[in-house]
Parts: sequence; C-alpha cells; structure tokens
Amino acid sequence: MIARTDNGRRRTIRSFVRRTGRLTASQQRALKELWPEFGVDTGPELLDFDALFGRSAPVVLEIGFGNGDTLVQQAAENAHLNFLGIEVHEPGVGHCLLKAHDAGLSNLRLIKHDAVEVLQHQIPKASLGRVNIYFPDPWPKKRHHKRRMIQPEFLQLINSRLGVDGALHIATDWANYAEHIDDVFSQSDLFSCAEQQEHDGSRPLDRPRTKFEQRGLRKGHRIWDWRYKKATQND
Ligand SMILES: C[S@@+](CC[C@H](N)C(=O)[O-])C[C@H]1O[C@@H](n2cnc3c(N)ncnc32)[C@H](O)[C@@H]1O
Repeated sequence: MIARTDNGRRRTIRSFVRRTGRLTASQQRALKELWPEFGVDTGPELLDFDALFGRSAPVVLEIGFGNGDTLVQQAAENAHLNFLGIEVHEPGVGHCLLKAHDAGLSNLRLIKHDAVEVLQHQIPKASLGRVNIYFPDPWPKKRHHKRRMIQPEFLQLINSRLGVDGALHIATDWANYAEHIDDVFSQSDLFSCAEQQEHDGSRPLDRPRTKFEQRGLRKGHRIWDWRYKKATQND
C-alpha cells in the first residue's frame, strides 16, 4: 500500500515490522542447509509452479504462517496439493523448515519476504487454488489500522492471483478486526462469502488450530472464520 508523506513523497505502508527475534542454532542451520530444499528466493521473475514443485497440482498459499506448524500439518494431510508459505519473521521460517524436513514433505515451498511484493511480482495471475490468512496482525490501535493486511487493494491483488472458483480463508481473534474484515468485503464485489462462523475455538473452518489462535483463546478471545469464493475475474 502506498501513502504520501508530509512532503508529498511516496511511502509504502507495510503490514509488519521486522522483529529482531533471536534465531536458535538449529533454526540458523536450517536456514542455511534446508533452504535449498524448501526455499524460494525472491526476485523479479514470475514463478513456474509446475517446475517449482516438480508436478502439476493446485497451489494453496498461506500468508504470514508464523512458526508454520499449521502449514506443515496441512501439507502433510493433503499430499495431493502443493503448498506455498510466505512469512517475513526469520525464526518462524527456520522453525517451519525444521518441521517440514522432519515431516519429509515434498509438497511445500517457503518464501521469506513481504507477501504483498511476492504476490505483485512472483505469483502469476489466476495461478492459486486457495489462499489462507490465519490471524493476520490485528494492529489494534486506530492510528495503525492502515497497516492491516485486509484492505480493498489487497483483495484486488488476491482476487487476480486466484483461479476461477478460488477460495480465500481468513481467521481472526480480534473483534474489531472481524468488523473491519466484514466491512471491507461487504464493500467489494470481488468475493462472495461461502461460510462464516464465530466460535470459541471449537469450530475452526477447515484448518488446524494455530499458535496465535491458542494465544488468543488463553486470553478469552472469540474466533471468527470466513471462507470466501472468488466472485469475479479481475485483471
Ligand atoms: C499474528 S501472526 C499469525 C501467525 C500464524 N498465522 C498463526 O496464526 O499462528 C501474523 C504473522 O504474519 C506475518 N506477516 C505480517 N505481514 C506480512 C507480510 N506482508 N508478508 C509476510 N508475512 C507477514 C508476521 O510476521 C506474523 O508472523
């Protein structure tokens, strides 16, 4: 997302701030030794998914996978699908690499970069079967709401990268973000809501419980899950 500074210059508003989390020795080793197996470098070229996975299968993209436990579990349980995860937090990527290796996965690839830029430059149009965004950073303060990932321009970007009948799954544990998500989608004709539920953690919508969800539940939060279907072609 682009904003203007006081002197009129363009500034990108990102949905994350880079946290300087400490890497464990094994995460550090994984980033070096397992990256060639699972990692995808960022660059200006569009990805060729068939070449990347060594086969042709629907691609499920998870944006902001955190420590990747949910992503690894879904990839292990759905060997017929190809999974691509994007995350900026290095220790999370390191953790996910270790888990993916332990699980012996061949249908998972990871990108360590801003998902918005990856979608813009590396993901071909109409190439994804499903996008999962589980517990995006809620940015609870009003002055930070512009950093929230779910925004009209972002919906347009996701819509253009999903194939016909593509699905977008979102979950949050922040009541105010849930309202924001409902507002943004209700003002757009790019997606139709196929399923929505508010629950106490007992009815996740076609996904395992995530680490951040667990944390929210411990604080007494409720959970909102949505499954949207791509409604219109957008290019
Ligand atoms: C609240 S955490 C949720 C993590 C995980 N999905 C879960 O539920 O446990 C949000 C994650 O999104 C990542 N993130 C935020 N904006 C991102 C972006 N533009 N590109 C890639 N990752 C992003 C953050 O680094 C963070 O790990």
